[in-house]
Amino acid sequence: MQEAMAVGTAGYTSMLCVLALEKAGVTPDKGDILVTGAAGGVGSVAIALLAKLGYQVIASSGREETHEYLKKLGAKEVISREETMGKGRPFDKERWAGAVDCVGSKILASVIAQINYGGAVAACGLAGGNDLPTSVLPFILRGVSLLGVDSVMAPREKRIEAWGRLATDLDKSLFADMTRVEPMSNLPSLANDILKGQIQGRVVIDVNA
Ligand SMILES: NC(=O)c1ccc[n+]([C@@H]2O[C@H](COP(=O)([O-])OP(=O)(O)OC[C@H]3O[C@@H](n4cnc5c(N)ncnc54)[C@H](OP(=O)(O)O)[C@@H]3O)[C@@H](O)[C@H]2O)c1
Repeated sequence: MQEAMAVGTAGYTSMLCVLALEKAGVTPDKGDILVTGAAGGVGSVAIALLAKLGYQVIASSGREETHEYLKKLGAKEVISREETMGKGRPFDKERWAGAVDCVGSKILASVIAQINYGGAVAACGLAGGNDLPTSVLPFILRGVSLLGVDSVMAPREKRIEAWGRLATDLDKSLFADMTRVEPMSNLPSLANDILKGQIQGRVVIDVNA
């Protein structure tokens, strides 16, 4: 039960993102995959899953202290949010075969602008904002796909597929390393950490402590 709670909505959402990229034809031989908001729950699990599936994963994180952790999960390289932004243009140099975006807003716009011809971005989060200041250029000039990922209303078959794949594609020992258990009494301070974007990996709440 602890393991299932540690995977939680974040892990299941990561798997939905990976499935979306696979269905869009993003395979490991196509090039590097970027994961934004990398040190959070969705980002951490996405890195572990993609690395195990043979993708070359680049993690984008705003926290320097998370770099070792992200490499341990399987990231080949870690880049800052500033570097992720590139030149901040709506149409930038091609860098990524695909991406899992947990951040939205300007970061997502920059990622879309840097996706290789025919590539795709699975967008699931809004940690940086719910706007999307982009243009149609990456879509109409590079055939880029923006794949919306929703975990809440996902149909049962999709859930079964995602949880089945989590059972086989998530490295259990690695996953234990990214998870910690905290007592219920620590919830208020954990909530503050979440709002400040300072949570690393997964936190399971022990409701009896
Ligand atoms: N679509 C769905 O069904 C679904 C399901 C689950 C979650 N979500 C959404 O997905 C997002 C990620 O969820 P999570 O559980 O991974 O959250 P989380 O653990 O709080 O992680 C979010 C990460 O985003 C980065 N971040 C935070 N504030 C930022 C800012 N202002 N600008 C840029 N990056 C920022 C941080 O990563 P770094 O420190 O590494 O930069 C942070 O660790 C959230 O927005 C959540 O609401 C959506």
